[in-house]
Order: sequence, then structure tokens, then C-alpha cells
Amino acid sequence: MFLEIKDLSVKIENKNILDKLNLNIDKGEVHAIMGPNGCGKSTLANVLAGKEDYEILNGSINFKDNDLFDLNIEERAQEGMFLAFQYPVEIPGVNITPFLHSAINSKRKRMNEEEIDNLSFAKLLKSKASDLGINIDMLKRSVNTGFSGGEKKRYEILQMSILNPDLAILDETDSGLDIDALKIVTEGVNKLKTKDNSFLIITHYQKLLDYIKPDYVHVMVNGSIVRSGGSEIAAEIEKDGFQKFQQ
Ligand SMILES: Nc1ncnc2c1ncn2[C@@H]1O[C@H](COP(=O)(O)OP(=O)(O)OP(=O)(O)O)[C@@H](O)[C@H]1O
Ligand SMILES: [Mg+2]
Repeated sequence: MFLEIKDLSVKIENKNILDKLNLNIDKGEVHAIMGPNGCGKSTLANVLAGKEDYEILNGSINFKDNDLFDLNIEERAQEGMFLAFQYPVEIPGVNITPFLHSAINSKRKRMNEEEIDNLSFAKLLKSKASDLGINIDMLKRSVNTGFSGGEKKRYEILQMSILNPDLAILDETDSGLDIDALKIVTEGVNKLKTKDNSFLIITHYQKLLDYIKPDYVHVMVNGSIVRSGGSEIAAEIEKDGFQKFQQ
């Protein structure tokens, strides 16, 4: 198994958020999680990526034969885990190009691969940006600083396509995108998809799942996965809401 989450319970600020959550993702699979506001979807994504504010009460996470809790946030990224945030953070003063260049090189180093030089990286970045309809001028700016909501989401996908992760977690990457950007972003994901990498897609809208076909859809309520199945679940939610999944 590629990612195995067993009985994960997590709290923050004295509030239990995840409650004995189980989820298995294998290589080459696309999983979608849907669930009402506040059920813990972003918490799960943050715990996976290694954000430190959470208290792990119970359970284990195994990722590519590592105990995930043994790896810090940077090591998880270097091992090939990537999180596209629901609310991407602005990093004023940190220029996109050197930032991504050093990110890709630290990953290559850990994987014992050769580092990529300035010129080759600039070429790679330009070609990926143009695939995603991102203006080259944007690459001279600071990370996310002053970007519009949709530009931030596109930039997250640019970052993802540069880093080429083994497991990409997209936390509502579709929200706030206009229809053209949604197509660009989802095409970006589909292009990146191989039999060796996996995606965990958190979304509120069935529409996204028309573009990125999930192998499994999970319903999350009150910090647990309460139902898993195929795309028909997304259609059910769209039609009836989450009421019937709440015991
Ligand atoms: N730092 C924090 N302090 C207190 N409560 C928090 C904190 N972070 C998250 N929570 C609470 O944890 C619960 C789960 O939040 P989370 O962001 O994981 O929900 P979500 O499923 O992603 O919701 P949405 O669909 O609105 O994005 C919410 O009730 C939220 O208020
Ligand atoms: Mg969220």
C-alpha cells in the first residue's frame, strides 16, 4: 500500500477533529473526499503534509514504507508528498523561480538524483507555465503575493507539475476558478497522472470530478470516512446533500 491511514484521531485546541479515520490509497489511484464544511477535510490534508499544530491522539500513517510521523514537513515533501492548499499562503520577498528551483533540487538530492542547473530549470519552468496558461511575468514575482484567488490556484498546480509528486493532495483547488482556469488546472492534473502516482482530491463540487475521474469517492462526516464507493456517490451527494450520511 502506498498510503495507509489507520484509526487516525487528531485534535486541535482541545477539539477532536479526526475520529478513527481509515483511508488506503494505492499507486496510480485517484481518490476524492467530499464532506460538509468543518468535517475535517483540510485537517486531514494538513496532518498528512506535516503541519505541526495538531495533536495526534491515536492511529498511524504509513507512506511509501515510512512511518509518516518520523518525517518532518520538508522530508515529506522530498519523499514526494505535495499539498495544494485551500488557502495558499503569500510569501512576500521570496521569488518564485529560485524558490521552486531549490525545492526541486532538495527533492532530487534526497532521491540521489542529479541537481538541475539554472538554465535547464528556467526552461522547464517556462514550458510548464505556458502549459498552464500562466504569464511568464508572474514567475518574476514573490510567491502568491498579490495574486488573485484563481492565480494562486494555478500557481499551486505549476508548483505541483514542477515537483512531480508521488502523492498530490488538492484541497479545494477548484474553488474560485473560472471555467477556463478549471479546465487548465484539471488538464494539468490529468497530464501529470501516471500509474505510479496518486491523487487525493478534496472538493465540494461534482463538476471537478467530471474533469478528473476519481477511482474512489469517500464521504467524510464528523472526522471519519462514513462511506466509500465510486463516482455514483458524488452524484448522490449533489442530488441529496450530506444529510443521509449523517447518523
Ligand atoms: N486552529 C484551530 N483552532 C480551533 N479549531 C480549529 C482549528 N483548525 C481547525 N479547527 C476546526 O476543526 C474543524 C475542521 O476544520 P477543517 O478546516 O478541517 O474543515 P473542512 O472539512 O476542511 O471544512 P471546509 O469544507 O469548510 O473547508 C472545524 O470545526 C474548525 O473550526
Ligand atoms: Mg477545508
